[in-house]
Amino acid sequence: MKTYIFGAGGHGKVVCDILEAAGQRVDGFIDDAKRGASHFGVPVLGEDQLECSAPVGVVVAVGANHVRARIAERLRARCPQAVFVNAIHPTAHVARSARLGVGNVVCAGAIIGPDGALGDHCVVNTGAQADHDCALGDFVSLAPGVILGGGVTISELTYVGLGARVIHGVKIGAHAVIGAGSTVVGDIDGGVVAYGSPCRAVRVRAMDDGYL
Ligand SMILES: CC(C)(COP(=O)(O)OP(=O)(O)OC[C@H]1O[C@@H](n2cnc3c(N)ncnc32)[C@H](O)[C@@H]1OP(=O)(O)O)[C@@H](O)C(=O)NCCC(=O)NCCS
Repeated sequence: MKTYIFGAGGHGKVVCDILEAAGQRVDGFIDDAKRGASHFGVPVLGEDQLECSAPVGVVVAVGANHVRARIAERLRARCPQAVFVNAIHPTAHVARSARLGVGNVVCAGAIIGPDGALGDHCVVNTGAQADHDCALGDFVSLAPGVILGGGVTISELTYVGLGARVIHGVKIGAHAVIGAGSTVVGDIDGGVVAYGSPCRAVRVRAMDDGYL
């Protein structure tokens, strides 16, 4: 089965590095805006060049959660045989009891502790740590260096910014953005931008507002 990375930006390059480090061949990036280019000798193809008549491995490597969700939905419709691959760097630690859905990216040095659970298409970026019993909904991403204490629950499409820390047992709702460097010591509602130490909601956000 051929494997493609959807998105040839910075995150796409990271995913290529992960798959290659894990010994998996990458057959191409898919990115209409960069069609004809290449990264590390791997060609960038247009979306119309993605052959969907046979099973094909895909990782959607787009950082913004809501954009990743839209692309995954489009791909599921266009390529029903697409297999969304989990890209896990060999230096990441994923506990034996952790459960992962599909299409997740777990970067170098990341940790997912015992009885952790990831939905589908999450990103646990470089060096991010989710201690025991954390649960991440679909399309959640943890930026580099995030630390979640035990039993943290984060609902779908929420982004936790660079180096933020979340103490044990906290619940963060869906479509939220937690600012870089925040210290989250209590529950945060969905649909807000929140930051600071202690972290507080500062405004509501529409679910497709940009944040990166
Ligand atoms: C939270 C965030 C989305 C807010 O973005 P924004 O709404 O555009 O905010 P602005 O840049 O307009 O800043 C508004 C105010 O909030 C403050 N602020 C913004 N982010 C902050 C943060 N993370 N912690 C503390 N204060 C913050 C700014 O200093 C500014 O204060 P001022 O009004 O006193 O000057 C953004 O700052 C952030 O942290 N994004 C995450 C980035 C990240 O993790 N990148 C990693 C990529 S791998």
